[in-house]
Amino acid sequence: LWQEVPLAPPDSIFKLTAAYKADPFEKKVNLGVGAYRDDDNKPWVLPVVKKVTRILLNDETLDHEYLPITGLPEYTAAAAKLILGPSSIALTEGRTVSVQTISGTGANHLGALFLSRFYTWNGAPRIYLSNPTWANHHAIFKNVGIEPVEYPYYDPKTIGLDFEGFIGSLRAAPERSAFLLHACAHNPTGVDPTEEQWKVIAQVILEKKHYAFFDCAYQGFASGDLDKDAWAVRYFVELGVPLLVCQSFAKNAGLYGERVGALHVVSANSETATRVKSQLSVLQRSEISNPPSHGARLVSLILNDAGLFEEWKRDIRTMAERIIAMRHELHRLLTQELKTPGNWDHIVNQIGMFSFTGINPEQSKGLVEQAHIYLTANGRISMAGLNSHNIRYFAENLDKVVR
Ligand code: LMR
Repeated sequence: LWQEVPLAPPDSIFKLTAAYKADPFEKKVNLGVGAYRDDDNKPWVLPVVKKVTRILLNDETLDHEYLPITGLPEYTAAAAKLILGPSSIALTEGRTVSVQTISGTGANHLGALFLSRFYTWNGAPRIYLSNPTWANHHAIFKNVGIEPVEYPYYDPKTIGLDFEGFIGSLRAAPERSAFLLHACAHNPTGVDPTEEQWKVIAQVILEKKHYAFFDCAYQGFASGDLDKDAWAVRYFVELGVPLLVCQSFAKNAGLYGERVGALHVVSANSETATRVKSQLSVLQRSEISNPPSHGARLVSLILNDAGLFEEWKRDIRTMAERIIAMRHELHRLLTQELKTPGNWDHIVNQIGMFSFTGINPEQSKGLVEQAHIYLTANGRISMAGLNSHNIRYFAENLDKVVR
């Protein structure tokens, strides 16, 4: 038995973490997985999370019973307000269904599964994914029988957005196609459309009756401002674009291991939302039955208490500002000190956890093999892996491989 099972390659992102951990080299640098590190390269437990953990620990009323199938109601309601905005018409009109999921990956999966069952496809089920995108997007949609196809997004010539190509693809796709959009801090490129560009994208999506499948894993991380990073999603909702949003608290609350996320499906009216919720409940029941409680309780406390919410916003700014400072320092080292050939302005223009350096797979490999600097082959670096102690080492080695 199982002799015919083919050997699968290791995950392209998590294999880097394993290789980094096994490497005894003192100056090794991990720029692989998108996980925040402080200036001493340590995982950072947000002070507000420490505080709410203590509150939960001392709460004698809590038990270990099952949560409802769609999750902790005070968590999902607050999570919906966070992404859609507290006065969103999609909430006041009672036409949003929010389901607690196993982080952003679980939200993507449940959203994809729901589409695979109930979306009125115009032809074969297909999802349009940006080229490039988070590698897992491809696997998630394939798993539920939806074929990923790519739309132009990143232009290697400008190391920026291929806006014309993107719009062209939205126009050329058959009506009622489904497009996956990164709400902010595009992974892996760090290249986001401007607000003006989002407006054009939304208009074409509306005209072509496309479906917007938003993935929002970095709210607050891009700009340090939760509302600013939710701008595109809120704008699409106001315009009446049919959409869903996948939400994760892994990055912005530093709750990677708790797997706390949500799927929000905005429907045309509350009656439809009731039917959507009933089917999401059926799907969730057979997949995970009931979502885990701990992370949802933590986030719920933060979102539902004005004081804790302010503390969280301060913690988010701490992370976002450190990353932005690293962008400026890397840019300064490359352009002013090392005089590295090429234009490096994209380092400061890109946004969020990642920067797409523009180096090729050969150069990326050189960094891994010669300098013990771990990054994905596409040249993506997690900015959070850089700090005041290792940034010069990285800049010098980047300089070496591009010369
Ligand atoms: C990443 O892209 O590094 C993160 O989103 C972690 C993951 O799950 O891949």
